[in-house]
Amino acid sequence: MTQPTFDPSSIESILHEERHFNPPSDFVDRMGSVYVSSLSDYEKIYNRSISDPQAFWTEIAEQLHWYRPWDRVLEWSPPDAKWFVGGQTNICDNCVDRQVRNGHGDETAIIWEGEPVDNGGPEIRRLTYADLQRETARLGNALKKLGVRKGDVVTIYMGMVPELAIAMLACARIGAAHSVIFGGFSSQAIADRVTDADSRVIITGDGAWRRGKIVPLKDNVDQACETLAAGNRDVDAVVVLKRCENAINWQDGRDHWYHELTAAADEDCPPEAMDSEDVLFLLYTSGSTGKPKGIVHTTGGYMVFTYITARYVFNLHPGRDQVYWCTADCGWVTGHSYIVYGVLPNRVPSLMYEGAPNFPAEDRFWDIVERHRVTQFYTAPTAIRAFMKWGAEHAEKHDLSSLKVLGTVGEPINPEAWMWYHRVIGGERCPIVDTWWQTETGGHMITPLPGATPTTPGSCTLPFFGIDAAVVNEKGEEQPANTGGLLVIRKPWPGMLRGIHGDRERFLETYWRRVENMYCAGDGAKRDEHGYFWIMGRIDDVINVSGHRLGTMEVESALVSHPAVVEAAVVGVPHEIKGTGIAAFVTLESHAEPSADLREQLRDHVAREIGAIAKPDQIRLTDALPKTRSGKIMRRLLRDVAAGTDTEQDVTTLEDLTVLAKLRESEEE
Ligand code: WTA
Repeated sequence: MTQPTFDPSSIESILHEERHFNPPSDFVDRMGSVYVSSLSDYEKIYNRSISDPQAFWTEIAEQLHWYRPWDRVLEWSPPDAKWFVGGQTNICDNCVDRQVRNGHGDETAIIWEGEPVDNGGPEIRRLTYADLQRETARLGNALKKLGVRKGDVVTIYMGMVPELAIAMLACARIGAAHSVIFGGFSSQAIADRVTDADSRVIITGDGAWRRGKIVPLKDNVDQACETLAAGNRDVDAVVVLKRCENAINWQDGRDHWYHELTAAADEDCPPEAMDSEDVLFLLYTSGSTGKPKGIVHTTGGYMVFTYITARYVFNLHPGRDQVYWCTADCGWVTGHSYIVYGVLPNRVPSLMYEGAPNFPAEDRFWDIVERHRVTQFYTAPTAIRAFMKWGAEHAEKHDLSSLKVLGTVGEPINPEAWMWYHRVIGGERCPIVDTWWQTETGGHMITPLPGATPTTPGSCTLPFFGIDAAVVNEKGEEQPANTGGLLVIRKPWPGMLRGIHGDRERFLETYWRRVENMYCAGDGAKRDEHGYFWIMGRIDDVINVSGHRLGTMEVESALVSHPAVVEAAVVGVPHEIKGTGIAAFVTLESHAEPSADLREQLRDHVAREIGAIAKPDQIRLTDALPKTRSGKIMRRLLRDVAAGTDTEQDVTTLEDLTVLAKLRESEEE
């Protein structure tokens, strides 16, 4: 496997952003208390965290509960890190039981709001730490009864209901690793992930509510089980939560109702003492080649890192009437780290919302903020762009004065969207934390601290404590200010991935071979004259659609698996709401007739193979794809064709120049 060639100087910054915003002068008053309240404090702590990481991380880790203290903070043999070596802990204990032990059992841990709204308003549930303790214990015991043992992988495929968080925590409680699959993925995606993880138990629901419709979760799992059976793989048990009461098929012996299992289960299930480096979860994410990769995170380091980043970046303070809301789905890393694992140990209620932002109307999010007096709000640029399009009037109908900190994650935020967020949602009084991080990093890596860091629209500003981020060339030399390069992390950090499940070679190749002994994030970036980081997007064949990473290769494989398709090339194309949309260039078998109907079929086919998020926005049917003499598809040309811009690029290596002209004519609709 070869790395795509990349010339760092080819990334040029076109943004010249001059607007700066200091943390509001009344921020400390409004918050009551702020962990880091000036840039010089940030610098002092940062310098110490880099010069003496052991002391820094020891102090943080000691704030959590360990059954056995660690012998060494870090063992680093690049690219393998072990954190809190020899220590034993349990993250469910730290999220839940520890709060109960400290006398906070009656406080709210999770506030949940369902999507459907009737005359009495939406359904709202509040779960206390004591509720979570009881429910994770019951489900933990139920899973053990189904044969789940420490180290097994449990697959979770559910809607955004409290039981999703409970299922994750229950696995952690008994020492099973979970693999959460986003509820929007298809049955094929489930089958692939279950196979890769060798998972034998699936927790799902009958259905999930999404924009007033029911997503047939159980049907998708049934289909996945059929696919698995055809490949001689058995799923031992499917646990089904009743939510939508839609009709489902039932396989006796394999299928179990969640409510029946948990009602019959004992409430006594002490959290398992886990080794700091025991696996906590796998989370599948797209790469530039082949199938999704199962990113491996372990227990102790991930726990410490998500706890402290959530605390400082959102300024979470227990006992001060804060309500924190992250709008992500738990199926993505943002939901893992900043709905569940980083937030609960901070003892601030975490709000979960089940459904779509525009159901029943475009003001749903602001309605929720007003109803629950949300103080910290964390969402994605793609959502902000949708809100802008729907209009400020939806937000203006609501009292958003409770908001104190706003956050964004998932892709670079364009300055107009930043300013809109600042003005319309934040009322010009809330710092915005633009957090850069990845599934692989476990938690925030480059981000403002709300009381300390002056912000500039479009920049994720400065590294978090302990994070040695840099922009370098392929030799690992730091680039001068305002020059594009590779974003790398030069020192290990507690939340870093420990590998790709079952694929050591891919782990080395993807992250560690490009620049020696540095973690290469796969993003291009620059630092400006103030040392602020600006992310310029992916350098590989991964496209970021609505803040979700998709490998172009995955979408191509899905297209080629359709009988009418010979060859396909997929590229990103600018899209008003999604940031990047998907354009697919497809050559057909000679028997296939090009038609609008076939295009629609291909779109649906991709949705079935991967999920609706991967549906191409444009499909162009063409006789041939532009290739180099060595047969490589020339994607940069396709990108221009898809975006409708004229090609000023060098085409001397094009095998067949007429192909390009034909592609332009293939313009859809
Ligand atoms: C992109 C999501 C610019 C980036 C937590 C990264 C961002 C990928 C930002 C990871 C940001 C994430 N500014 N780009 N604040 N946050 N990205 O694994 O390309 O789903 O590599 O993790 O999203 O996506 P992932």
